[in-house]
This record gives sequence, structure tokens and C-alpha cells, in this order.
Amino acid sequence: MDFQLTEEQLAVQAAARDFAQNELLPGVIDRDTHEKFPAEQIKKMGELGFMGMMVDPKYNGGGMDTISYVLAMEEISKIDSSASVSMSVNNSLVCWGIEKYGTEEQKEKYLKRLATGEIIGAFCLSEPEAGSDATSQRTTAEDKGDYYLLNGTKNWITNGNSASVYLVIAQTDKEKGHKGINALIVEKDMEGFQVGKKEEKMGIRGSDTHSLMFTDVKVPKENRIGEDGFGFNFAMATLNGGRIGIAAQALGIASGAYELALKYSKERKAFGKEINQHQAIAFKLADMATNIETARLLCLKAAWLKDQKKDFSQASAMAKLFASQVAMDTTVEAVQVHGGYGYVKEYHVERLMRDAKITQIYEGTSEIQKIVISRNILK
Ligand code: CAA
Ligand code: FAD
Repeated sequence: MDFQLTEEQLAVQAAARDFAQNELLPGVIDRDTHEKFPAEQIKKMGELGFMGMMVDPKYNGGGMDTISYVLAMEEISKIDSSASVSMSVNNSLVCWGIEKYGTEEQKEKYLKRLATGEIIGAFCLSEPEAGSDATSQRTTAEDKGDYYLLNGTKNWITNGNSASVYLVIAQTDKEKGHKGINALIVEKDMEGFQVGKKEEKMGIRGSDTHSLMFTDVKVPKENRIGEDGFGFNFAMATLNGGRIGIAAQALGIASGAYELALKYSKERKAFGKEINQHQAIAFKLADMATNIETARLLCLKAAWLKDQKKDFSQASAMAKLFASQVAMDTTVEAVQVHGGYGYVKEYHVERLMRDAKITQIYEGTSEIQKIVISRNILK
């Protein structure tokens, strides 16, 4: 077992940290307050190689390992989770899904531009009536010979308005249950595709979350990913990797809040001493540091298993389940360490606390992660 990061991994971590400090931090409060999508910043992230980190260089990707991806996600998420959720969806759902299961033509046409951040992608599984219970979706992709006729509504789609390419999971043959579902690549300008309302959210307020409507959208057969009926298995396999990204996002939110709390505890004095000299505050910091270290180990273990091409579905579910709880606990306590100042925007921890909550909900709620873990343990 080797806990030492490589030179390359350390360089990626440092580059992500610099980018987050210099390019994301300055406008983050304004983007959060006014719900502004970080379009410019994401473009730069693409130029720096953060939008297609693990993609093979022959498709314009960074050819990096999943450990580097976790390190970069943590650093970006310390500052701006609206930017990091776009990064996560693009890297681990859209790019990975197309690279792993797409045809050579799909990789040429879509992956090469997605990997550089020239365009970004969205992953469309959830619907108004089907979130956790993902097989009960109602969107249909009727087989019409050389194309699918797509009808229905998707909900809560990250990058909903900013994406150019959408991976849409839809039912072709209801009788076949989850084996009758397909995954289709839909382009934004296809006729009959419409971006619906933008959600007003508690956290990740810069992220553009939209409903999407499909009315008789003709999607060519060559845009199907994998064999007929592979769509649900495609979604599940892709989400295993996505959950590593969101676990790393939760880790970043927690470590960002901890770093702020630690710094503040050295600056603020009460009753004649730094507040960290009161054991109640020192113990909070000790708990935060221990939980964060544990979450980090779980994230890195899941990433390592993925890089070793071993089964990582249980490990990614454990990492997301644990890191998202640590993000909640740490951010709540970081606000407490800041006292009244923690409750105002200027000190950042209140935003991190609002951002933390979503990590327990998307890419499978914490209850769903427990289903994944327990089914693995019990099988
Ligand atoms: N990895 C690989 N395959 C999996 C899997 C996993 N983690 N979980 C299920 N599967 C496969 C099963 O093996 C089975 O396939 P086979 O029949 O070929 O063996 C198939 O999926 C159906 O499995 P189940 O019978 O277990 O299905 P189920 O209806 O009981 O549901 C579930 C299983 C785990 C609850 C699943 O529905 C689920 O993960 N729900 C959560 C959905 C989710 O995570 N949505 C996220 C949307 S994207 C998003 O949120 C992005 C964002 O915010 C940024
Ligand atoms: P429900 O499934 O209705 O769950 C409600 C509650 O019941 C939860 O607590 C849940 O854990 C619990 N529950 C449900 N079933 C069980 C069970 N079997 N056992 C125990 N408890 C259970 N989706 C996408 O496809 N793409 C995206 O890009 C995307 N981005 C998102 C961005 C945001 C900001 C948000 C809020 C959501 C996003 N989602 C996206 C959707 C997200 O994945 C779903 O919200 C999530 O999977 C939960 O589904 P739901 O909201 O329908 O809740």
C-alpha cells in the first residue's frame, strides 16, 4: 500500500488549487447570489484539461487517472461546487459513458469536443415521477426503424441549458422492464427539444438545473449508446463512476469549510485567548479533520479500484454516502466555529453549508447508496 501521491498527481492538485483560488474564488459569492452559471470559468477549466481529465489523449483528453480526478474535484469544490458539478457530470458521466460504451463515430463527433470543454454535456435520467426509482421512467424512445422518436420530460438536469450534448435514458419497450431502456445522444438543436424552467435552489445556485421537454424528437439510430436495451445498465455503470466525482465534491466542500474554520479559530479571540484554545472548539476541529481524512481515504480507494479495473460500485457508494454526511456535519460545525460571522455570506461557510446538502441527494440519495451497499454485502 502506497499513500504517496505521484509527482503528476501532486501537480494536478496544485494546478486545481491555483485555479480555484485565482479564478473561482473572486466571483463566487456574486455567482451564488445571482444564480450565474460559471460559463467563462468552465471554459478555462476546459483549456486547463479539467473537463476531460480521464479521456484518452487520442480523443483530446488528459489521459489521467481517477485519483488525479478526485484530487482536482476536491480542490475545485473547496471553492465553487457549481463549477465542480459541471466538471463532474462532464467527466465522469458524459465523457466516460461515451468513451467506454460509444462507437468510434460518436467519440469522433462528440467526445473530442466534450473532452476539451469546447462543449459540455448533460446526463438525463431523472423525471418528475421517477428519481430514485429510475426504472419507472415515462420518457419513451419509440423504435421507428432508422431513428427513435423521443417523447417525455426530464427533470433536474445539471448543465440543462448550457450543454450541447445530452445523454437521454428512455423507455423503448416497457414490457421488457429495465432491459427495454435505451441511452441516446441528443443534440440541443434537434427539432422538438426544448429547455424548460430553471430551478431556484438552496445551494449550487450557479449551476443551471433545468427540466427538459422532448416532443417527437427524431434521434438517429447511430446515436444510441450500446446494444438495444442496454440503456439502464449503461446508466447504472456510469453512475458508479459519477458517484466518485460527487464523493470528491463532498470531500472538497468539507475540507474547504474545515480550512476556513481552522484559520478563523486562530484569528478570533474570546475570553482572552484564541477560540481554538477552548477545548470545545479544538475538539470540533479534531472531529472535522478525522472525518475528512476518512472520507478522503474512501474516495481514493474507490478511485484506485476503478483505475485498477476492479469492481468499484460498492466502494463508490460508500465514498459518496460517507463523504456527503461529512460535508453536512463539517459545514454546520464550521458555521458554528465562526459564530455570527459564519451566518453571513462574506465568510463563505454558509454557502458551503447550503452546497453540502445536495451531495446527499443527487447521483443517488444516501438511502439509495445504502441499497447499493447492502445489496453488495448480502449477495
Ligand atoms: N452498478 C451496476 N449495475 C447496477 C447497479 C450498480 N450500482 N445498480 C443496479 N444495477 C443493475 C443491476 O445489476 C440490474 O441489471 P441486470 O438485470 O442486468 O443484472 C439492473 O441495474 C436493475 O437493477 P435492480 O433490479 O437492482 O433495479 P432497481 O429498480 O431495484 O433499482 C437502484 C436499483 C440502485 C435503486 C437504481 O434504480 C438507482 O441507482 N437509483 C438511483 C438513481 C440515480 O442515482 N439517479 C441519479 C441521476 S443523475 C444525477 O443525479 C446527476 C447529478 O445530479 C449531477
Ligand atoms: P425520490 O426518489 O422521490 O425520493 C424521495 C425520498 O425517498 C428520498 O429521501 C429517498 O432517498 C427516499 N427513497 C426513495 N426510494 C427509497 C427506497 N427504496 N428506500 C429508502 N428510501 C427511499 N438527475 C439527472 O438525471 N441528471 C442530473 O443532471 C441531475 N442533476 C440534479 C441536480 C440537482 C440540483 C438536483 C436537486 C437533482 C438532480 N438530479 C439529476 C436528480 C437527482 O438524481 C434526484 O433528485 C435523486 O435521484 C432523487 O430522486 P427524487 O428527487 O425523485 O426523490
